[in-house]
Amino acid sequence: MAGIYIHIPFCLQKCSYCNFYSESDISLKDKLINTLLTEIKLRASYLNNETVRTIYFGGGTPTLLLPNEIQQMIDAVFSLFQLSDEIEITLEANPNNLTEEYIKQLSATAINRLSIGIQSFYDNDLQTLGRIHTAKQAEESILLAQKYHFNNLSIDLMYGFPGLTLEKWKYNLNKIKNIQHISCYQLTLEKKSLLYQKIKNGILLSTPEDEIIEQYHYLISFAKKHHFIHYETSNFCQENFESKHNTSYWQDALYLGIGPSAHSYNRESRQWNISDNKAYITFFENLLSSEDYDLKGENVVFEKEILTTDMRFNEYIMTSLRTIWGCSLDYIQQHFGKSYLKHLRQQLSNIQPDFYILSPSSLRLTEKGNLFADYIAASLFV
Ligand SMILES: C[S@@+](CC[C@H](N)C(=O)[O-])C[C@H]1O[C@@H](n2cnc3c(N)ncnc32)[C@H](O)[C@@H]1O
Ligand code: SF4
Repeated sequence: MAGIYIHIPFCLQKCSYCNFYSESDISLKDKLINTLLTEIKLRASYLNNETVRTIYFGGGTPTLLLPNEIQQMIDAVFSLFQLSDEIEITLEANPNNLTEEYIKQLSATAINRLSIGIQSFYDNDLQTLGRIHTAKQAEESILLAQKYHFNNLSIDLMYGFPGLTLEKWKYNLNKIKNIQHISCYQLTLEKKSLLYQKIKNGILLSTPEDEIIEQYHYLISFAKKHHFIHYETSNFCQENFESKHNTSYWQDALYLGIGPSAHSYNRESRQWNISDNKAYITFFENLLSSEDYDLKGENVVFEKEILTTDMRFNEYIMTSLRTIWGCSLDYIQQHFGKSYLKHLRQQLSNIQPDFYILSPSSLRLTEKGNLFADYIAASLFV
Protein backbone atom coordinates (compact mmCIF):
# COMPACT_ATOMS: atom_id res chain seq x y z
CA MET A 1 0.00 0.00 0.00
CA ALA A 2 1.20 3.50 -0.82
CA GLY A 3 0.24 7.16 -0.39
CA ILE A 4 0.34 10.32 -2.47
CA TYR A 5 0.99 13.74 -0.91
CA ILE A 6 0.22 16.89 -2.91
CA HIS A 7 1.68 20.13 -1.56
CA ILE A 8 -0.20 23.38 -2.20
CA PRO A 9 2.47 26.04 -1.60
CA PHE A 10 0.41 29.18 -0.99
CA CYS A 11 -0.61 31.00 2.22
CA LEU A 12 -2.07 34.49 2.06
CA GLN A 13 -0.34 35.29 5.34
CA LYS A 14 2.54 33.46 7.03
CA CYS A 15 1.69 32.29 10.54
CA SER A 16 4.20 33.48 13.12
CA TYR A 17 5.41 29.98 14.08
CA CYS A 18 5.39 28.15 10.74
CA ASN A 19 8.31 26.86 8.73
CA PHE A 20 6.46 24.94 6.01
CA TYR A 21 7.12 26.14 2.46
CA SER A 22 4.53 28.54 1.04
CA GLU A 23 4.35 31.83 -0.88
CA SER A 24 1.83 34.65 -0.42
CA ASP A 25 1.87 35.58 -4.14
CA ILE A 26 -0.88 33.47 -5.66
CA SER A 27 -0.57 34.87 -9.18
CA LEU A 28 1.17 31.61 -10.19
CA LYS A 29 -1.73 29.48 -8.98
CA ASP A 30 -3.03 28.35 -12.39
CA LYS A 31 0.45 27.57 -13.68
CA LEU A 32 1.23 25.69 -10.52
CA ILE A 33 -1.91 23.52 -10.80
CA ASN A 34 -0.94 22.64 -14.38
CA THR A 35 2.55 21.74 -13.21
CA LEU A 36 1.20 19.57 -10.40
CA LEU A 37 -0.88 17.73 -13.00
CA THR A 38 2.23 17.30 -15.16
CA GLU A 39 4.25 15.96 -12.24
CA ILE A 40 1.49 13.48 -11.33
CA LYS A 41 1.55 12.22 -14.91
CA LEU A 42 5.34 12.03 -15.28
CA ARG A 43 5.89 10.26 -11.97
CA ALA A 44 3.05 7.74 -12.27
CA SER A 45 5.47 4.80 -12.18
CA TYR A 46 7.25 5.91 -8.98
CA LEU A 47 5.09 3.72 -6.73
CA ASN A 48 5.84 0.54 -8.72
CA ASN A 49 2.15 -0.25 -9.17
CA GLU A 50 1.57 -0.48 -5.43
CA THR A 51 -2.05 0.22 -4.53
CA VAL A 52 -2.68 3.82 -3.48
CA ARG A 53 -4.56 3.84 -0.19
CA THR A 54 -4.41 7.58 0.56
CA ILE A 55 -4.19 10.96 -1.13
CA TYR A 56 -3.37 13.94 1.07
CA PHE A 57 -3.58 17.62 0.04
CA GLY A 58 -1.37 19.52 2.47
CA GLY A 59 0.17 22.92 2.64
CA GLY A 60 0.41 25.71 2.63
CA THR A 61 -3.29 26.28 2.21
CA PRO A 62 -4.98 23.76 -0.10
CA THR A 63 -8.33 25.53 0.41
CA LEU A 64 -7.00 28.45 -1.66
CA LEU A 65 -7.77 26.16 -4.59
CA LEU A 66 -11.32 25.81 -5.88
CA PRO A 67 -12.99 22.44 -5.23
CA ASN A 68 -13.06 21.68 -8.96
CA GLU A 69 -9.31 22.35 -9.19
CA ILE A 70 -8.74 19.85 -6.38
CA GLN A 71 -11.02 17.34 -8.08
CA GLN A 72 -8.99 17.73 -11.30
CA MET A 73 -5.92 16.44 -9.46
CA ILE A 74 -7.87 13.59 -7.87
CA ASP A 75 -9.10 12.62 -11.35
CA ALA A 76 -5.51 12.59 -12.61
CA VAL A 77 -4.46 10.26 -9.79
CA PHE A 78 -7.53 8.05 -10.35
CA SER A 79 -6.71 7.66 -14.02
CA LEU A 80 -3.02 6.81 -13.54
CA PHE A 81 -2.65 4.77 -10.35
CA GLN A 82 -3.97 1.54 -8.93
CA LEU A 83 -6.40 2.50 -6.16
CA SER A 84 -7.68 0.92 -2.97
CA ASP A 85 -11.49 0.50 -2.76
CA GLU A 86 -11.40 2.34 0.54
CA ILE A 87 -9.21 5.23 -0.46
CA GLU A 88 -8.84 8.03 2.11
CA ILE A 89 -8.61 11.49 0.52
CA THR A 90 -7.75 14.27 2.98
CA LEU A 91 -7.78 18.01 2.48
CA GLU A 92 -6.08 20.36 4.95
CA ALA A 93 -8.43 23.30 5.33
CA ASN A 94 -8.11 26.79 6.80
CA PRO A 95 -11.29 27.95 8.59
CA ASN A 96 -11.53 31.34 6.82
CA ASN A 97 -11.86 29.56 3.45
CA LEU A 98 -14.62 27.24 4.61
CA THR A 99 -17.69 29.27 3.68
CA GLU A 100 -20.98 27.41 3.22
CA GLU A 101 -20.71 27.63 -0.57
CA TYR A 102 -17.13 26.28 -0.51
CA ILE A 103 -17.99 23.33 1.73
CA LYS A 104 -21.05 22.55 -0.34
CA GLN A 105 -18.87 22.35 -3.47
CA LEU A 106 -16.26 20.30 -1.59
CA SER A 107 -18.89 17.78 -0.59
CA ALA A 108 -19.42 17.09 -4.30
CA THR A 109 -15.75 16.13 -4.76
CA ALA A 110 -14.09 12.85 -3.77
CA ILE A 111 -12.56 14.40 -0.63
CA ASN A 112 -13.72 12.23 2.27
CA ARG A 113 -11.64 13.60 5.15
CA LEU A 114 -11.17 17.21 6.23
CA SER A 115 -8.38 18.36 8.53
CA ILE A 116 -9.15 21.86 9.80
CA GLY A 117 -6.34 24.01 11.22
CA ILE A 118 -8.08 25.66 14.16
CA GLN A 119 -5.10 26.05 16.60
CA SER A 120 -7.21 27.89 19.24
CA PHE A 121 -10.75 29.14 19.82
CA TYR A 122 -9.47 32.45 21.27
CA ASP A 123 -9.00 35.51 19.06
CA ASN A 124 -6.00 36.77 21.06
CA ASP A 125 -4.21 33.41 20.62
CA LEU A 126 -4.97 33.44 16.91
CA GLN A 127 -3.41 36.92 16.73
CA THR A 128 -0.29 35.75 18.59
CA LEU A 129 -0.01 32.84 16.15
CA GLY A 130 -0.51 35.18 13.17
CA ARG A 131 -3.53 33.22 11.97
CA ILE A 132 -5.74 34.81 9.35
CA HIS A 133 -9.02 33.41 10.78
CA THR A 134 -11.16 34.37 13.78
CA ALA A 135 -12.50 32.25 16.63
CA LYS A 136 -16.01 32.67 15.18
CA GLN A 137 -14.86 31.33 11.79
CA ALA A 138 -13.19 28.41 13.56
CA GLU A 139 -16.46 27.41 15.27
CA GLU A 140 -18.56 27.95 12.15
CA SER A 141 -16.24 25.91 9.93
CA ILE A 142 -16.74 22.84 12.13
CA LEU A 143 -20.52 23.20 12.12
CA LEU A 144 -20.57 23.64 8.34
CA ALA A 145 -18.32 20.63 7.73
CA GLN A 146 -20.69 18.54 9.87
CA LYS A 147 -23.74 19.97 8.11
CA TYR A 148 -22.34 18.79 4.77
CA HIS A 149 -21.64 15.30 6.14
CA PHE A 150 -17.88 15.36 6.54
CA ASN A 151 -18.01 12.59 9.11
CA ASN A 152 -14.29 11.96 9.15
CA LEU A 153 -13.17 15.27 10.54
CA SER A 154 -9.83 16.15 12.10
CA ILE A 155 -8.99 19.30 14.04
CA ASP A 156 -5.49 20.71 14.64
CA LEU A 157 -4.85 22.51 17.93
CA MET A 158 -1.57 23.84 19.32
CA TYR A 159 -0.32 24.17 22.89
CA GLY A 160 2.77 25.43 24.68
CA PHE A 161 2.74 28.80 22.88
CA PRO A 162 2.94 32.26 24.53
CA GLY A 163 -0.33 33.33 26.15
CA LEU A 164 -2.05 29.93 26.21
CA THR A 165 -3.08 29.26 29.83
CA LEU A 166 -4.24 25.90 31.18
CA GLU A 167 -7.78 27.29 31.44
CA LYS A 168 -7.80 28.26 27.75
CA TRP A 169 -6.30 24.89 26.78
CA LYS A 170 -9.07 23.08 28.68
CA TYR A 171 -11.69 25.20 26.91
CA ASN A 172 -10.13 24.55 23.47
CA LEU A 173 -10.02 20.79 23.98
CA ASN A 174 -13.53 20.58 25.35
CA LYS A 175 -14.83 22.33 22.24
CA ILE A 176 -13.73 19.34 20.12
CA LYS A 177 -14.56 16.40 22.34
CA ASN A 178 -17.03 15.00 19.79
CA ILE A 179 -14.70 15.17 16.78
CA GLN A 180 -13.45 11.91 15.22
CA HIS A 181 -9.74 12.85 15.11
CA ILE A 182 -7.60 15.50 16.77
CA SER A 183 -3.97 16.48 16.25
CA CYS A 184 -2.52 18.43 19.17
CA TYR A 185 0.90 19.88 18.43
CA GLN A 186 3.21 21.26 21.05
CA LEU A 187 4.78 24.43 19.62
CA THR A 188 8.13 23.82 17.96
CA LEU A 189 9.90 27.16 18.08
CA GLU A 190 11.40 27.44 14.60
CA LYS A 191 14.54 29.60 14.45
CA LYS A 192 13.45 31.30 11.21
CA SER A 193 9.98 32.20 12.52
CA LEU A 194 8.60 35.57 13.57
CA LEU A 195 7.53 34.06 16.90
CA TYR A 196 11.13 33.09 17.64
CA GLN A 197 12.26 36.67 16.94
CA LYS A 198 9.52 38.10 19.16
CA ILE A 199 10.46 35.83 22.05
CA LYS A 200 14.16 36.52 21.55
CA ASN A 201 13.53 40.28 21.58
CA GLY A 202 11.39 40.05 24.73
CA ILE A 203 8.17 41.10 22.95
CA LEU A 204 6.52 37.79 23.93
CA LEU A 205 7.26 35.49 26.86
CA SER A 206 7.85 31.82 26.15
CA THR A 207 5.72 29.37 28.14
CA PRO A 208 7.59 27.87 31.12
CA GLU A 209 8.43 24.15 30.75
CA ASP A 210 6.30 23.11 33.76
CA GLU A 211 3.22 24.81 32.25
CA ILE A 212 3.77 22.97 28.94
CA ILE A 213 4.00 19.66 30.81
CA GLU A 214 0.80 20.53 32.68
CA GLN A 215 -0.95 21.19 29.35
CA TYR A 216 0.36 17.87 27.99
CA HIS A 217 -0.89 15.96 31.05
CA TYR A 218 -4.30 17.57 30.75
CA LEU A 219 -4.38 16.53 27.08
CA ILE A 220 -3.69 12.90 28.04
CA SER A 221 -6.38 12.84 30.75
CA PHE A 222 -8.87 14.61 28.46
CA ALA A 223 -8.21 11.99 25.74
CA LYS A 224 -8.81 9.13 28.20
CA LYS A 225 -11.99 10.66 29.56
CA HIS A 226 -13.46 11.11 26.09
CA HIS A 227 -12.33 7.71 24.74
CA PHE A 228 -9.80 9.00 22.26
CA ILE A 229 -7.10 6.50 21.32
CA HIS A 230 -3.68 8.13 21.66
CA TYR A 231 -2.21 6.41 18.64
CA GLU A 232 0.79 8.66 17.93
CA THR A 233 2.63 11.33 19.93
CA SER A 234 0.44 14.20 18.64
CA ASN A 235 -2.54 12.26 17.28
CA PHE A 236 -5.75 11.04 18.91
CA CYS A 237 -8.83 9.44 17.41
CA GLN A 238 -12.09 7.66 18.04
CA GLU A 239 -12.01 3.98 17.12
CA ASN A 240 -11.25 3.36 13.41
CA PHE A 241 -10.56 7.03 12.66
CA GLU A 242 -6.76 6.95 12.53
CA SER A 243 -5.28 9.01 9.71
CA LYS A 244 -4.44 6.24 7.25
CA HIS A 245 -2.11 8.62 5.42
CA ASN A 246 0.07 9.61 8.37
CA THR A 247 0.00 6.07 9.70
CA SER A 248 1.59 4.82 6.50
CA TYR A 249 4.54 7.23 6.99
CA TRP A 250 5.16 5.60 10.37
CA GLN A 251 4.91 2.07 8.99
CA ASP A 252 7.50 2.31 6.23
CA ALA A 253 5.01 2.54 3.35
CA LEU A 254 5.96 4.07 -0.01
CA TYR A 255 4.84 7.60 -0.76
CA LEU A 256 5.01 9.95 -3.70
CA GLY A 257 5.25 13.67 -2.93
CA ILE A 258 4.00 16.05 -5.62
CA GLY A 259 4.65 19.81 -5.65
CA PRO A 260 7.28 22.24 -4.37
CA SER A 261 9.05 21.00 -1.19
CA ALA A 262 7.24 17.62 -1.23
CA HIS A 263 9.19 14.52 -0.19
CA SER A 264 9.01 11.03 -1.73
CA TYR A 265 10.17 7.67 -0.44
CA ASN A 266 10.39 4.28 -2.16
CA ARG A 267 12.38 2.19 0.36
CA GLU A 268 15.57 2.73 -1.65
CA SER A 269 15.88 6.48 -1.54
CA ARG A 270 14.26 9.62 -0.25
CA GLN A 271 13.95 12.58 -2.57
CA TRP A 272 12.55 16.04 -2.18
CA ASN A 273 11.39 18.72 -4.59
CA ILE A 274 12.76 22.25 -4.64
CA SER A 275 11.07 24.74 -2.29
CA ASP A 276 10.57 27.40 -4.94
CA ASN A 277 7.36 27.74 -6.96
CA LYS A 278 8.95 29.55 -9.91
CA ALA A 279 11.88 27.12 -10.25
CA TYR A 280 9.50 24.16 -9.91
CA ILE A 281 7.20 25.44 -12.68
CA THR A 282 10.09 26.41 -14.98
CA PHE A 283 11.72 23.02 -14.59
CA PHE A 284 8.63 21.14 -15.80
CA GLU A 285 8.00 23.67 -18.60
CA ASN A 286 11.53 23.08 -19.86
CA LEU A 287 11.19 19.35 -19.46
CA LEU A 288 7.99 19.28 -21.52
CA SER A 289 9.51 21.37 -24.28
CA SER A 290 12.62 19.23 -24.45
CA GLU A 291 12.67 15.92 -26.25
CA ASP A 292 14.12 14.07 -23.30
CA TYR A 293 11.47 13.28 -20.68
CA ASP A 294 13.90 11.61 -18.32
CA LEU A 295 13.29 12.77 -14.74
CA LYS A 296 15.97 10.55 -13.31
CA GLY A 297 19.02 12.37 -14.66
CA GLU A 298 17.89 15.72 -13.29
CA ASN A 299 18.97 17.14 -10.00
CA VAL A 300 17.71 20.65 -10.55
CA VAL A 301 14.38 20.37 -8.79
CA PHE A 302 14.95 17.11 -6.96
CA GLU A 303 17.47 16.25 -4.34
CA LYS A 304 17.94 12.61 -3.62
CA GLU A 305 19.49 10.57 -0.85
CA ILE A 306 20.14 6.85 -1.28
CA LEU A 307 19.24 5.09 1.94
CA THR A 308 21.34 2.35 3.47
CA THR A 309 19.64 -0.46 5.38
CA ASP A 310 20.97 1.08 8.62
CA MET A 311 19.36 4.42 7.78
CA ARG A 312 16.05 2.78 6.91
CA PHE A 313 16.09 0.71 10.10
CA ASN A 314 16.80 3.79 12.25
CA GLU A 315 14.01 5.73 10.56
CA TYR A 316 11.59 2.84 11.05
CA ILE A 317 12.46 2.61 14.77
CA MET A 318 12.19 6.39 15.24
CA THR A 319 8.76 6.74 13.64
CA SER A 320 7.10 3.46 14.64
CA LEU A 321 7.98 3.82 18.32
CA ARG A 322 5.98 7.04 18.40
CA THR A 323 2.84 5.03 17.63
CA ILE A 324 0.61 2.87 19.80
CA TRP A 325 1.46 -0.18 17.63
CA GLY A 326 5.21 0.23 18.06
CA CYS A 327 7.55 -1.61 15.73
CA SER A 328 6.76 -5.03 14.32
CA LEU A 329 9.42 -7.66 14.99
CA ASP A 330 8.29 -9.71 11.97
CA TYR A 331 8.63 -6.66 9.77
CA ILE A 332 12.17 -6.03 11.05
CA GLN A 333 13.16 -9.63 10.37
CA GLN A 334 11.65 -9.64 6.87
CA HIS A 335 12.78 -6.22 5.68
CA PHE A 336 16.04 -5.65 7.53
CA GLY A 337 17.22 -9.13 8.52
CA LYS A 338 17.83 -11.22 11.64
CA SER A 339 20.93 -9.30 12.70
CA TYR A 340 18.82 -6.14 13.19
CA LEU A 341 16.42 -8.02 15.41
CA LYS A 342 19.33 -9.31 17.44
CA HIS A 343 20.75 -5.78 17.73
CA LEU A 344 17.37 -4.49 18.92
CA ARG A 345 17.07 -7.12 21.64
CA GLN A 346 20.63 -6.46 22.81
CA GLN A 347 20.15 -2.68 23.02
CA LEU A 348 16.90 -3.09 24.94
CA SER A 349 18.83 -4.40 27.93
CA ASN A 350 20.14 -0.83 28.44
CA ILE A 351 16.65 0.62 28.68
CA GLN A 352 14.55 0.90 31.81
CA PRO A 353 12.05 -2.04 31.72
CA ASP A 354 9.03 0.13 32.60
CA PHE A 355 9.61 2.22 29.45
CA TYR A 356 8.58 -0.52 27.01
CA ILE A 357 6.49 -3.64 26.39
CA LEU A 358 8.12 -6.41 24.37
CA SER A 359 5.69 -9.04 23.04
CA PRO A 360 6.49 -11.91 20.63
CA SER A 361 5.32 -9.70 17.74
CA SER A 362 6.12 -6.09 18.68
CA LEU A 363 8.01 -3.57 20.76
CA ARG A 364 5.92 -0.69 22.12
CA LEU A 365 6.54 2.12 24.56
CA THR A 366 4.58 2.53 27.81
CA GLU A 367 3.02 5.89 28.68
CA LYS A 368 6.10 6.61 30.79
CA GLY A 369 8.39 5.56 27.92
CA ASN A 370 6.50 7.87 25.53
CA LEU A 371 7.92 10.89 27.32
CA PHE A 372 11.41 9.72 26.33
CA ALA A 373 10.55 8.33 22.88
CA ASP A 374 13.35 10.15 21.03
CA TYR A 375 15.99 9.12 23.56
CA ILE A 376 14.84 5.46 23.54
CA ALA A 377 14.75 5.33 19.75
CA ALA A 378 18.26 6.80 19.55
CA SER A 379 19.51 4.12 21.98
CA LEU A 380 18.18 1.43 19.63
CA PHE A 381 19.77 2.85 16.45
CA VAL A 382 22.50 0.96 14.64
C1 LIG B 1 1.51 22.71 7.88
S1 LIG B 1 0.05 23.10 8.63
C2 LIG B 1 -1.00 23.05 7.24
C3 LIG B 1 -2.47 23.20 7.54
C4 LIG B 1 -3.08 24.53 7.27
N1 LIG B 1 -2.32 25.35 6.43
C5 LIG B 1 -3.28 25.25 8.57
O1 LIG B 1 -2.30 25.81 9.07
O2 LIG B 1 -4.38 25.30 9.04
C6 LIG B 1 -0.40 21.67 9.58
C7 LIG B 1 -0.38 21.89 11.07
O3 LIG B 1 0.94 21.89 11.55
C8 LIG B 1 0.95 22.53 12.80
N2 LIG B 1 2.20 23.30 12.89
C9 LIG B 1 2.81 23.99 11.91
N3 LIG B 1 3.96 24.55 12.38
C10 LIG B 1 4.07 24.20 13.68
C11 LIG B 1 5.03 24.46 14.72
N4 LIG B 1 6.09 25.23 14.49
N5 LIG B 1 4.82 23.92 15.94
C12 LIG B 1 3.74 23.13 16.16
N6 LIG B 1 2.80 22.88 15.24
C13 LIG B 1 2.96 23.39 14.01
C14 LIG B 1 -0.30 23.41 12.88
O4 LIG B 1 -1.14 22.96 13.90
C15 LIG B 1 -0.95 23.19 11.54
O5 LIG B 1 -2.35 23.10 11.65
S1 SF4 C 1 0.43 27.04 9.60
FE1 SF4 C 1 -0.72 26.57 7.76
S2 SF4 C 1 -1.67 28.56 7.18
FE2 SF4 C 1 -0.07 29.01 8.64
S3 SF4 C 1 1.70 29.53 7.35
FE3 SF4 C 1 1.86 27.36 7.92
S4 SF4 C 1 0.92 26.26 6.26
FE4 SF4 C 1 0.28 28.40 6.08
